[in-house]
Amino acid sequence: MLKVGQIGCGGIGGIHACCWKNLQDKVQLVAVADFNVAKAKEISKDCGAKVYEDAIQMLENENLDIVDICLPTFLHAQYVIDTMKYVKNIIVEKPLCLNAEEAEEIKKAAQKYGATVLVGHVVRFSDTNDYLAKLIKSGEYGRVIEANFYRISPKPVWVKDYENVNKTGGMPIDLHIHDVDYIRYIMGSDPKDVESIVIRNENGIVENIWSSYFYDGAVIHAEASWIYPVCMKFKKSARVRLEKAVVEFSDNNILTVYPEDGEAFSQTFAEKNMDFGINISDMMPFYNELSSFIAYIEGDKKAKVVTLDDAIAALKLVIRELDTAKACVAGRK
Ligand SMILES: NC(=O)c1ccc[n+]([C@@H]2O[C@H](COP(=O)([O-])OP(=O)(O)OC[C@H]3O[C@@H](n4cnc5c(N)ncnc54)[C@H](O)[C@@H]3O)[C@@H](O)[C@H]2O)c1
Repeated sequence: MLKVGQIGCGGIGGIHACCWKNLQDKVQLVAVADFNVAKAKEISKDCGAKVYEDAIQMLENENLDIVDICLPTFLHAQYVIDTMKYVKNIIVEKPLCLNAEEAEEIKKAAQKYGATVLVGHVVRFSDTNDYLAKLIKSGEYGRVIEANFYRISPKPVWVKDYENVNKTGGMPIDLHIHDVDYIRYIMGSDPKDVESIVIRNENGIVENIWSSYFYDGAVIHAEASWIYPVCMKFKKSARVRLEKAVVEFSDNNILTVYPEDGEAFSQTFAEKNMDFGINISDMMPFYNELSSFIAYIEGDKKAKVVTLDDAIAALKLVIRELDTAKACVAGRK
């Protein structure tokens, strides 16, 4: 039985903890740390995990096999590196960190301490995205010719300091990176070229991004924003044109394949919806992700994981998009 300690018991921490509790045949959530002790207590109340206010004290006192870091992004680099001094298996929420410098520091420290760092780019683990990725990799319908990914959110007012790019990285590094990681995953590499357009607000903060990724014989587009009214629901969708079929899905967990020759068919995937107090209710992608990470940590090196290198590459691609984007300044008064 692997012993897990979790640092950060806020929005996403609540979902992770719920997954750990559902993986109790393989792991035990033995300790949780949050300087908001009430949040840590809430998580521990039905599993008996020991509650810490100070994460470093948890690392010093507990003999943990895995540490799961669900802290705000600006704390990832510091806590991932500090954790390596105590525990060799680390899971950290996406994005890995705020910038390329922090990413390189994490990589150097992982080499020094011999730590494995897996990153929570959860989109790969959603059943619709997983089905699509397997279909592409099988080659059954040929190569990707074009694709379109869409990820639109109301303002994430439930996230503390969401407008502070020094804390969250801003919308492209926090939200758009989901599709960036997935595009790199299905295409197997970075694009040869990328072109982006952004809308910046009067303070230079990116509100919308549209990017085109150029591969040999294929172009992929991704759009993301989190500027929309709070009363609007989160929306995501994907449409991929392969040589011999089009595949499409949106947020209803129904994926449809339209073959060139033959009838369309759909696949509906199960959801496990719970109220986590944030705009995510389906815990299945997180459950899939954490079970796969556990399988990998237990020795199944074929288990699907998002490595440190994958996460660094996704972060660097977003930064490249921002560095080269054509920008329009929002014209409000
Ligand atoms: N994979 C996804 O779809 C997804 C969704 C939401 C958030 N996230 C990521 O998860 C991370 C956390 O986001 P969140 O929305 O849960 O944030 P949050 O603010 O809701 O939770 C963070 C928690 O960390 C605690 N904390 C802060 N500093 C601490 C410290 N030094 N020691 C101990 N506890 C501390 C806070 O008290 C809070 O409870 C971010 O990196 C975010 O990008 C990922």
